[in-house]
Amino acid sequence: MSATITPLPQQLSFDDALDQHGVTDPGRIFRDPTAAKNKFLPVHRWVNWIAGFSGTFTGSCIDLYLPDRRPGATVLDPFAGVGTTLVEAYRRGLNTLGFEINHFAALVARTKLQCTQISESALSDAIAAYAKFMRPIEQELDHAEGSSGGLAVDPSKLPVPRTRPPKGFRSRVPFFAPLVERKVLFSLDYVASLPEELKSFFQVALGAVMVSVSNYSYEPSLSSRASAGRSSIVNAPVSHILVKKLREMTTDQAALRKELASCQLNPAAAVYRQSFFSGSQEILADDSVDLVITSPPYMNNYHYVRNTRPQLFWLDFISNASDLKALEDANYGRYWQSVRDGEPVQLSFDLPEASLLVDQIRSIKPEKGAYGGPGWANYVACYLNDTDRFCSILARVLRPSGKAVIVVGNSIIQGVEVQVDRFFSILGEKNGLKTIGIYVIRGQRVGSSIVNTGLRENATKKIPLYDAAVVLQKP
Ligand SMILES: C[S@@+](CC[C@H](N)C(=O)[O-])C[C@H]1O[C@@H](n2cnc3c(N)ncnc32)[C@H](O)[C@@H]1O
Repeated sequence: MSATITPLPQQLSFDDALDQHGVTDPGRIFRDPTAAKNKFLPVHRWVNWIAGFSGTFTGSCIDLYLPDRRPGATVLDPFAGVGTTLVEAYRRGLNTLGFEINHFAALVARTKLQCTQISESALSDAIAAYAKFMRPIEQELDHAEGSSGGLAVDPSKLPVPRTRPPKGFRSRVPFFAPLVERKVLFSLDYVASLPEELKSFFQVALGAVMVSVSNYSYEPSLSSRASAGRSSIVNAPVSHILVKKLREMTTDQAALRKELASCQLNPAAAVYRQSFFSGSQEILADDSVDLVITSPPYMNNYHYVRNTRPQLFWLDFISNASDLKALEDANYGRYWQSVRDGEPVQLSFDLPEASLLVDQIRSIKPEKGAYGGPGWANYVACYLNDTDRFCSILARVLRPSGKAVIVVGNSIIQGVEVQVDRFFSILGEKNGLKTIGIYVIRGQRVGSSIVNTGLRENATKKIPLYDAAVVLQKP
């Protein structure tokens, strides 16, 4: 290939970012990029989402890039996760919308935005009624607990829930112990009896605590407790745990409702359970978005779909393997597991740096086929193709002078570093956007983006993993 190769755009440190904006108070921009505080922030603390934003980070981005909070301004998160960006925009009275393919994450994001329409007393009554419904059932079930997790009574003598375990759900070890499973199924019986808005609220809470009472845990991928060296859970106070979560959520929704009422704001908010690639075409007009704050899946093959299988199946969003496959196919960049075996994936755009990178990865351990360079090169090419598609949509939907803050991390694939942030910048520019800056917001990420190198130790020592915010602007 004869084209010249341009150097990748320069990255700036967090301090450079502050200087560049003339900011003297370091708390002013990009606060809490590591999401350390999110576990404690009202509403954001409802559900942990891997690579989720911190509310403080998205809030400070909005304050920085939309300081006048012009009424009618629109904030978009194309990969909304559990809705961190959307909630912070909504709290500031800005119109907001998000796309999210994962049913559980979309439910969480939507419930956060709609919860202010439920009265606190309706929630408290429903929680009290749930506790009352569960008390005798749970007492009877607890009574049946025998030694070392067995049952002291004939299971057919125990109360029987109406809800059945999801048929298509498979796990290597039984997901719930028998007693816990019955408690969860009775909880689902109760949830099924609720009107829609209360039902979503309870489903969010159940999805948030479900894995904590199961024989699996997030490490951060979903693994059996035994394989992670944790003891198994033979029984758990399911209704107590759920009520605690529901009460925390009720406190937060009441505070959010008051906050919005006090500033008399009634912004529009929507979450589309749809891929951004197809959904944006139907839903987003040209030049309609003022600010994008987003974090697409990292190029680390973190499997959002597999890791949320419990919530997807047990909350009845999906029922079989083909539903799972549809989600995998819609995922940004796909997954290595879905693309490793096919024909070599070609780049859909012309960029010598990207072609060289993909060719370099493809040439590593070719004898290992799908498990060596050829398989991983397909994954990288799919990811970069989606990045180009994404940038072209951004260039269409942003208003002139509108900005996009995109948080991504670098990756090490087959021992080769991929500076994903810089590719977002180059592909953004190729699609007509301007790079305002690439700010390294976290310089010490560990482990999770070193994918199948066989060089884990060396690679971590030589190449630090970082997260960066790429800020693009439409001229
Ligand atoms: C890094 S997470 C975003 C987390 C989010 N910033 C938050 O704070 O919750 C990336 C999300 O993109 C979603 N996703 C992947 N492909 C998508 C697509 N094509 N359209 C919309 N969402 C997608 C994943 O399900 C995942 O929830």
